[in-house]
Amino acid sequence: MIEPIKKLSYDELFCLHTINTLIIQNDDINVTLKKILNLLSEIAGLKRGIISVYYKELEEIHHEILGFDDSEDEVKFSPGEGITGEVVRTGKPIAIPRLNQSPIFLDKTGIRRNLNREELAFICVPIQYCNATIGALSVDREVLSSENGDLSHEIFYLSNIANLISESVNRKILVSENINLKSLLNIPGKISTIIGNSRPMRELAHQISLIANSNVSVLITGETGTGKEMVAKEIHKLSHRSDKPFITINCGAIPEGLIESELFGHKKGSFTGAITDRIGKFQAADGGTIFLDEIGELPQILQVKLLRALQEREITKVGDNQNIKVDVRVIAATNRNLEEELAKGTFRSDLYYRLNVFQLFLPPLRERGADILLLSDFFIRKYSSQMEKVITRLDTSAIDMLTIYHWPGNVRELENCIERACLLTQDGVISAHNLPPSLQMKSVENRGKKRGKFESLVRAYEIELITDALKDAQGNQTAAADYLGTTKRVIQYKISQYSIDYKRFSNTGKK
Ligand SMILES: Nc1ncnc2c1ncn2[C@@H]1O[C@H](COP(=O)(O)OP(=O)(O)OP(=O)(O)O)[C@@H](O)[C@H]1O
Ligand SMILES: [Mg+2]
Repeated sequence: MIEPIKKLSYDELFCLHTINTLIIQNDDINVTLKKILNLLSEIAGLKRGIISVYYKELEEIHHEILGFDDSEDEVKFSPGEGITGEVVRTGKPIAIPRLNQSPIFLDKTGIRRNLNREELAFICVPIQYCNATIGALSVDREVLSSENGDLSHEIFYLSNIANLISESVNRKILVSENINLKSLLNIPGKISTIIGNSRPMRELAHQISLIANSNVSVLITGETGTGKEMVAKEIHKLSHRSDKPFITINCGAIPEGLIESELFGHKKGSFTGAITDRIGKFQAADGGTIFLDEIGELPQILQVKLLRALQEREITKVGDNQNIKVDVRVIAATNRNLEEELAKGTFRSDLYYRLNVFQLFLPPLRERGADILLLSDFFIRKYSSQMEKVITRLDTSAIDMLTIYHWPGNVRELENCIERACLLTQDGVISAHNLPPSLQMKSVENRGKKRGKFESLVRAYEIELITDALKDAQGNQTAAADYLGTTKRVIQYKISQYSIDYKRFSNTGKK
């Protein structure tokens, strides 16, 4: 049935218009919704407004935004409970001409304790989004002496407002679901410092939990800045060695002549400059974990010595002939393709197999879908608190730019971008112009293609789907196309459009 057009008063129209403007301004959701309730109270005479949100997973309705100052405890109830619960359960509005006549009115906020309920009318309408009831909007109004108990005008008016705010309320639900997910990832004993909810990162978290507490050697591979060192630290933290040292040695940063002494120590006088006895990193890490970063850079001569230390679990200091037992867990990392180095003969295969008992691959950031935004959010919180600035969010232009960019420097590059943006922003919001020029260039290139937030999110999702399918299909494009119910031609086009390295997923080894 078509709703008859009701006559709205000037104040009601003014309110509708202002609400629209507030929503378009796209400010903080809580602030916007609170302003809307205040406006309804001050201009349209609809007092004590409440926006209640239905959390389906929890089967709970929460009074989330209150249009009055009252700091009572958080109010929660179930679908079907009280009037608001009934509105959420049925998706139908309820209006009560005089509150004292309703036995099911609960007043859980306690705000009407000292008011005369005989003089109050109450209207509650559902907030709906994509055909589902996601909450309710309720208000009081004073009963007018001329009134005949017909509140259809108020229901009509309030339903319009509920429609206007439904997208914001839905966003609010998404944000709190996100926060819940993050706190799930922060359960002690689970992965606490590694942010990510994409499928490859969830898989990685699972793999880490499987191997953390064992002594197996782990080889971590992945492009620069993907978080290899962070994962190594996490493994140590979750292992029974966590109260013993975690010692890092960067095989690429130490002059060749000094690496052996760095690793195993030396006796006084064993070479020029060895003026005292010194213990090496292996001994320093005894009982704990040694992290051999950039293992691909280790000179061949030392590869042999390292292999011996790993096999025999003992080391010999430079200039000494005594063997010393050490108990260390070894984690190595590289952004080189070690299989290629094996083929070229620059990396020893016996050492490779010894280190590579378990391999963890860190996917590039551009293949982690919505993790880009999750990480951005995490870094905004990190740097805003370090800089003691209030920075609430990314605006749409920044979100577009971050999700379109291909992130050759991965998470490290993203972290640097967000740190810089936190420094530059002056209004508590990070916008496109706060991001560095390298990202701006990319967006200028894409401007012709008119990418909006929606498109960039779809793009991120497509990349995630395709890489997942390629992984399941071990890099076979025809099989990946089959998984996704599309043609090989489409997959090939997308692979080249998004520069996905499909060979990485083949059986012949990971990069
Ligand atoms: N998933 C993540 N969650 C939070 N921070 C992350 C994540 N991944 C990486 N970082 C941060 O990004 C930065 C780079 O990570 P890290 O040093 O572990 O990378 P890497 O793979 O070792 O890089 P490289 O190959 O260049 O040495 C660090 O500051 C790290 O804290
Ligand atoms: Mg590193």
